[in-house]
Amino acid sequence: MAFLVGLGGLYPAGMKERSMAYAPLKEVYKDYFYIGAAVKLGEYNSTPFYQAYGERLLEHFNSFTAENGMKPENIYRDGTYDFTYGDRLVRYAREHGAVVRGHTLVWHNQTSSLIPGKIPKEEAKRLLKEYISTVAGHFRGEIHAWDVVNEAVGDGSQWRTSSPWYQSYGGPEYIREAFEYARMADPDAKLFYNDYNVVQPGKRERIVRMLEELDLVEAGLDGIGIQAHWNLVWPSVDEISRTIETFASMGLEVHITELDIDCYDGNPSTPQMEYTPELEERLSRRYAEIFEVFRQHKGEVTSVTFWGLTDPDSWLNGFSGGRFLKERRENYPLLFDGKGDPKKAFFSIINW
Ligand code: XIL
Repeated sequence: MAFLVGLGGLYPAGMKERSMAYAPLKEVYKDYFYIGAAVKLGEYNSTPFYQAYGERLLEHFNSFTAENGMKPENIYRDGTYDFTYGDRLVRYAREHGAVVRGHTLVWHNQTSSLIPGKIPKEEAKRLLKEYISTVAGHFRGEIHAWDVVNEAVGDGSQWRTSSPWYQSYGGPEYIREAFEYARMADPDAKLFYNDYNVVQPGKRERIVRMLEELDLVEAGLDGIGIQAHWNLVWPSVDEISRTIETFASMGLEVHITELDIDCYDGNPSTPQMEYTPELEERLSRRYAEIFEVFRQHKGEVTSVTFWGLTDPDSWLNGFSGGRFLKERRENYPLLFDGKGDPKKAFFSIINW
């Protein structure tokens, strides 16, 4: 089971004993927003590790996102669809009173089993329609919000022209079509455009331009997903506020979809650091200021999802500054440590 690699540090026995000692996050924030976590394949099967993981998940979170399990590469192969994972996640969430964020229908990564690269436009159009209608149709009524399109705007230019969808269409119209198909397939799901660096002023403006140019609200869009792969120094709380306000003033919902705080500030060459008391303190203050901004935007920010549950299961142990690392480097971006214990950052956001 590949997904177990690197998760060895969790200490199942302790998690249960400690579970009643402090308020659950989802209770603390129930009048503000959903509190979510990205979950990995297999997290609630019967091994002791995943039993413990599941307990922590259920204790604090009321929204689940599949970290990888509902991406095209895990659903579509050789013209057939496999909904095993998504069905399991949906059932689990329903049994425990949580909602599911669907992630993601249209992306340039983890999609090569669906669209390997540039293909004839007519074929791409047929595939986009078939895929979205089939997948969003299958989960119809079960998904709180779909990340319909992920990361389609460029970092230095308007569009991500390297996307196989962009290449095959010869332009960005696939984005609008994706929202139309998703809206038809699941009339009740909230439909999101999701991206990273949304708080960066240039990219934020490009996203606004996209919304207007492609008339995405008319096509069915309800909100903007701010991934929030942030770090200890970036972005400023002012920039976060401005970003939320920009989209809220357009009548859109804002979801924070993939929150984590990279303790290496996006630098892939910094050697591994220990989790010192100073770092613990910095992280805690950083989370405190970020959640203060979220609380100030009550009613505008309606969901906050962490990209993982415990530090050792974070993707940031293997990813930094836009690329995958050759060797694992321990990062400390989340609220729970490898023993499943809440860190200081956890307490900084439940006590304010
Ligand atoms: C990441 C997963 O966390 C990793 O396990 C996987 O190897 C790559 O994808 N933006 C997204 C997420 O929208 O789907 C990505 O998730 C992180 C960046």
